[in-house]
Amino acid sequence: MSQKVTFPEDFWWGAAMSGPQMEGTFEKPHENVMDYWYKTSKEEFFNGVGPTVATDFFHHYKEDIKMMKSIGMNSFRTSIQWSRLIKDLETGEPDENAVKFYQDVIDECKKNDIILVLNLHHFDLPIELFQKYGGWESKHVVDLYAKFAKTAFELFGDQVHYWTTFNEPMVIPEAGYLCGFHYPKYVNKGKEAMQVIYNLNLASAKAIALCHEICDAKIGNILNLTPAYPATDSKEDQETSKIVDAFYNRSFLEPAVHGVFPQEMIDIMKENDVLWDQNEEELEIIKNNTIDFLGVNYYHPKRVKTRTTPLDCDYWSPEQYYEEYDMPGKRVNPYRGWEIYPKAIYDIAKNVQENYNNIPWFISENGMGVEGEERYINEEGKIEDDYRIDFYEEHLQLLAKAMEEGSNCFGYHAWTGIDCWSWNNAYKNRYGFIALDLETQKRTVKKSGEWLKKVTEEHGYIAKDSYQ
Ligand code: BG6
Repeated sequence: MSQKVTFPEDFWWGAAMSGPQMEGTFEKPHENVMDYWYKTSKEEFFNGVGPTVATDFFHHYKEDIKMMKSIGMNSFRTSIQWSRLIKDLETGEPDENAVKFYQDVIDECKKNDIILVLNLHHFDLPIELFQKYGGWESKHVVDLYAKFAKTAFELFGDQVHYWTTFNEPMVIPEAGYLCGFHYPKYVNKGKEAMQVIYNLNLASAKAIALCHEICDAKIGNILNLTPAYPATDSKEDQETSKIVDAFYNRSFLEPAVHGVFPQEMIDIMKENDVLWDQNEEELEIIKNNTIDFLGVNYYHPKRVKTRTTPLDCDYWSPEQYYEEYDMPGKRVNPYRGWEIYPKAIYDIAKNVQENYNNIPWFISENGMGVEGEERYINEEGKIEDDYRIDFYEEHLQLLAKAMEEGSNCFGYHAWTGIDCWSWNNAYKNRYGFIALDLETQKRTVKKSGEWLKKVTEEHGYIAKDSYQ
C-alpha cells in the first residue's frame, strides 16, 4: 500500500556546497591545500581538471541562487574560504574583494528568501599555514583560524543566522594523516592524526565562543557520522566497533555536544603513548563551548571486524584495532564505491535523540555521485536521474520514521545543488539537482530537481515502497 511520507511545514529543504568546490580560484589572495595539491600533481585529478574554474559560482552566484530557489530550496550551505576572505593570515585582516563577494552572496540569499548556513572550513587550509607551521598539527594555526572566524563574524554575524565551524573535521586527520587520500597524503601517522583531532576540536570551540560573543546567531559543527557496524555478534567484533566509533565518530561528536572526549579513546592513546598535547585551559574552552545544533553528513556506514593481520607500518594508528569488513551482498554505488545503506540514517537519528540530548540537528549532506549522467539525457535535454530520486526517497523515509519517534531533526540538505568539483575525482561523479555543462557552464535542472520542488510544495511524497 502506498504511504505518504510527511515532513513539517517549516522543514529545511536544500543542499550543501562549498567554496573551494564551487567558486573557482578567481581573485583569491592565497592558495589552499587543495589548490596546491592540484598545482603540483595534476595527474592525480580526474581528466586533469582542477579547482581553477570549478562551477564558477564566483561569477554565476546570482543565477545559481535563483535557480536553487526555483527548485524549492528554502535553505543552503556554502563555505567562506579562509584563503579568499583573509588577506593577512597572521592578523585576520580581510581582503576587500572577498568581503564584497561574500556580502553579495548573502544579499542574494536574502533577496530570494533562502536561509543561508555559512561554514568556515571545508578541508581548505591555506597552504602557507601548512608549509610554515605544519597545518592543523599546530596550535598557532588554531589561533589563526580563530582570528579568521572572528573576522567573518564581525563582518557578517549580524546578517547570517546559522554558522558552522567545520565540514567533516574527521576527514582532515583520516584522509590526510591515516589513509593518504587528501593532501598532505600521509599514511598511518596516528600520533599526528590525534593531535589534529584535538586541535580541530579546540579550534571549533574557540570559534563557538567568539560567535556567541559577537553575534546573535546559532553555530554548529558538520560531522560525517559513519556508524560502525560489527561484522558479527562476537564480543570481539562488538568491542572493535565501539573503538572505531570512538575514534571516527565520537572523537568529534562527544566534545561538540558534551564538551568532553570519549574516555576509551583517551585510555587507548595513553596506553600507546600517543596522547595529544593538551592543557587544562584548553579543555575548559572545549567543555564550555559546545554547539547549538548539529549537522550530519551521511553517505555510507563503516563495517568493521577485529584485525587478524598486523598492520604493516612503523607508526601507531587506530587502524591497528580493526579491518574494514566487505559484507557480502551489500548494495554499492559502483561509481563511488560506497555502500548504500539508508537504515543508518535512522540509527544516527536515534543515537542523537538518545545519547546527545536530542539536540536540534539536520542532515547536512546525503547524496549519490554518478558517472556519465549524460547517458540519461532525454529529448528535452533533461537528465532523468531516477536512481537519485529513489536514493533520496529511501533515506528520507527512514529519517521521517525517526522523527515520528521524536528525533529532533529540522532539515535535509542534499549534496549538492549544482554539480561541483571534488577532491581529485574532479567532475567524474555528478551529485547535483542541477547539471553543469563543463564546456559552456550551462546549468540544467535534472529530474531530481523537479522532484525536490514537488516534495517541498507537498511537504513530503508518496513512497513507492516501505523501506526498512
Ligand atoms: C563529502 C564532502 O564528504 O562528500 C564533499 O563534504 C564531497 O566535499 C562529498 O564532495 C562527496 O564526496 P566526493 O569525494 O565523491 O566528492
